[in-house]
Amino acid sequence: MPRETNAIQEDTMGRFEGKVAVVTGAGAGIGKACALAIAREGGRVVVADIDGSAAAACTAQIAAEAGHALALAIDIAEAQAVAALFDTAERHFSAVDLLVNNAGAMHLTPRDRAILDLDLAVWDETMATNLRGTLLCCRQAIPGMIARGGGAIVNMSSCQGLSGDSALTSYAASKAAMNMLSASLATQYGHAQIRCNAVAPGLIMTERLLAKLDECMQRHLRRHQLLPRVGRPEDVAALVAFLLSDDAAFITGQVVCIDGGMLAHVPTYADGGNSRAARPSAGTAEAAASPRC
Ligand SMILES: NC(=O)c1ccc[n+]([C@@H]2O[C@H](COP(=O)([O-])OP(=O)(O)OC[C@H]3O[C@@H](n4cnc5c(N)ncnc54)[C@H](O)[C@@H]3O)[C@@H](O)[C@H]2O)c1
Repeated sequence: MPRETNAIQEDTMGRFEGKVAVVTGAGAGIGKACALAIAREGGRVVVADIDGSAAAACTAQIAAEAGHALALAIDIAEAQAVAALFDTAERHFSAVDLLVNNAGAMHLTPRDRAILDLDLAVWDETMATNLRGTLLCCRQAIPGMIARGGGAIVNMSSCQGLSGDSALTSYAASKAAMNMLSASLATQYGHAQIRCNAVAPGLIMTERLLAKLDECMQRHLRRHQLLPRVGRPEDVAALVAFLLSDDAAFITGQVVCIDGGMLAHVPTYADGGNSRAARPSAGTAEAAASPRC
């Protein structure tokens, strides 16, 4: 039914025409996919990243696709820099309608240990980027959104903010706090038509993560998903675009998991071979040989 397919595409194209978006950490990974997704649907995007050349490369890709974007090198943990970011966005485009607080101190996660082994500098820096940076950007965005009659914010949380782990103490605490910050913002400014939701990805295979996780580790993590593939930045970007758009006009204050089912099953699932269909039937020789059955 080609006509119907076209109709669906026309409906979903251009959801961000006339809108201005700030995406932090948009030089790479999930943030870059979000910036591209917003620009492809007509939004003008401020690509903010501590890595200025990565921000410029993302902006160049958007421009090559005939989109509109502005690259800004910024550390979101710095209050003055964040104020300057929103000033520049407003002068270059107009006041910000959409905000994606995506930047995260991913480079610190290898040093983010269990509580007694934790370097407090790692805790402070993680909180400064993930939590304080998110708060600073929200504080700059909210007044303009109120003045324009509303806006939408997505905070990039993580499954790590919903379950305990043997390490990643600071990262997990920062993401759990981002969930509550999202709920607070949704509660305090919903009357002004500002929506705020958190997105909690599971394992999303960005270029940087791919370079860090060997095949053995990837397999280990995938055993705990229900879907048999890794997540991609584009999967998260599609959810973020939905939550920013009017398609999600009545959704606010939520934490939405996008994890291939990682948190959706009983903890013993992965020990059972990861797929009931793949297990030998009870009573067979294979079952007798398998202690998991
Ligand atoms: N990849 C995953 O599996 C995964 C899972 C759950 C949540 N997340 C979250 O998604 C977000 C993006 O992760 P990613 O995997 O795409 O990471 P990434 O490292 O590929 O990209 C993060 C970007 O943020 C930028 N950045 C870091 N600190 C910054 C700062 N202080 N100011 C401005 N920019 C800064 C980096 O330069 C980088 O371009 C993070 O908040 C992360 O916690 C990722």
